[in-house]
Amino acid sequence: MSQQALVVAEIGKPLVKITRPIPEPKEGQIQVKVTVAGLNPHDAKAQRYGLFIKDSLPSPLAIDIVGTVTKVGPNVSNFKEGDKVFSLGNPMDPDGAGTQEYAILIAETTAKVPENVNADEAATLALNPLTAFWGLFRDPVGLGIPPPAPFKGSQPGFDYSKLSLAVIGGGSAVGKYVIAWAKYAGFGMIITTASKGKSEKELSALGATHILDRHVSATELENQVREIVGDDLQHVFDAVNAGQDAEVGARLLSTSKSGKLVVICGGDFDASKVTGKNAGFKRIMVFASPDPIIGRSYWEELPKLILNGVLKPTMYAVIEGLNLDKLNAAIAAYNAGQNVVKPQLHID
Ligand SMILES: NC(=O)c1ccc[n+]([C@@H]2O[C@H](COP(=O)([O-])OP(=O)(O)OC[C@H]3O[C@@H](n4cnc5c(N)ncnc54)[C@H](OP(=O)(O)O)[C@@H]3O)[C@@H](O)[C@H]2O)c1
Repeated sequence: MSQQALVVAEIGKPLVKITRPIPEPKEGQIQVKVTVAGLNPHDAKAQRYGLFIKDSLPSPLAIDIVGTVTKVGPNVSNFKEGDKVFSLGNPMDPDGAGTQEYAILIAETTAKVPENVNADEAATLALNPLTAFWGLFRDPVGLGIPPPAPFKGSQPGFDYSKLSLAVIGGGSAVGKYVIAWAKYAGFGMIITTASKGKSEKELSALGATHILDRHVSATELENQVREIVGDDLQHVFDAVNAGQDAEVGARLLSTSKSGKLVVICGGDFDASKVTGKNAGFKRIMVFASPDPIIGRSYWEELPKLILNGVLKPTMYAVIEGLNLDKLNAAIAAYNAGQNVVKPQLHID
């Protein structure tokens, strides 16, 4: 049996429409008929220079996947045919990406779509909230703060109110979910940077305690943060900067206490260029991925937290159907550095 798919066949070239086999679910997997395939900035990097996909061409894109279960693989007990589910696909496996009619998901790290969100909204709640959660609460590949209840690894009595966090790029989708998780956990101070006059209301409703203009110089930003939190800041989550640009967050860290800087964009970083951190700091690159330790617990609890409003959908722009031209235009807009509202293919 075969299906239509929009794929990168050659790195750096526009996507093309092909026919490829409908993948069969193996042990622990489910097959879904894709309803919504949500794109993110990394899809443009995949098309431009092969991020995640260079060894698996031709490859569909989009790992925010919402669909209806059509087949259940061996040893899957948590889903049945007809369930409406959402999850994170696998960018390195062409069967696990969304710009095709049928895709494969890992049952343990998939959840039913909560009744208070539609399929388009559910697609916004896969990769980005998970990236934020991983960056804050995984150890050692995140800031390593204990996850809040009810997640696996939570520590009853842990006092989050003593923690301060700076989020570079609160206006980004990931940045918004970092703020939302930090508020849910109960962090005492959540400082963020964003374009002045754009999303301040939204960011303070999410839980930001201080919103600073992201367009000031790094020195000015450092002065503003030190006025708020003194020399105490030990945790920074940079949701937007690649390479040495992440220095802006490192500069905010304490000079007398050890610090951690989480980044989610790659590129070279020379820590020796950040001076004055006498107690040292660690820069940690975080990748959203299936995690056998807290992954299952995360996906089990996620729908309840969406239902009670802890996590809210972010903005998206619908592309109707497997529309090759519109998908290529969205990828080109990302690659041109335009401000893109998260494109989502509404396939079924
Ligand atoms: N490692 C991983 O697993 C992982 C997972 C997801 C995303 N990512 C990466 O994370 C990055 C963000 O993704 P996203 O989908 O959240 O992006 P997005 O929603 O498209 O973010 C765009 C927004 O970020 C803000 N921004 C841009 N440059 C900034 C800067 N220098 N300082 C502060 N804010 C800035 C702007 O908001 P305002 O103008 O409103 O301030 C802009 O509108 C991408 O590079 C993506 O590839 C990595």
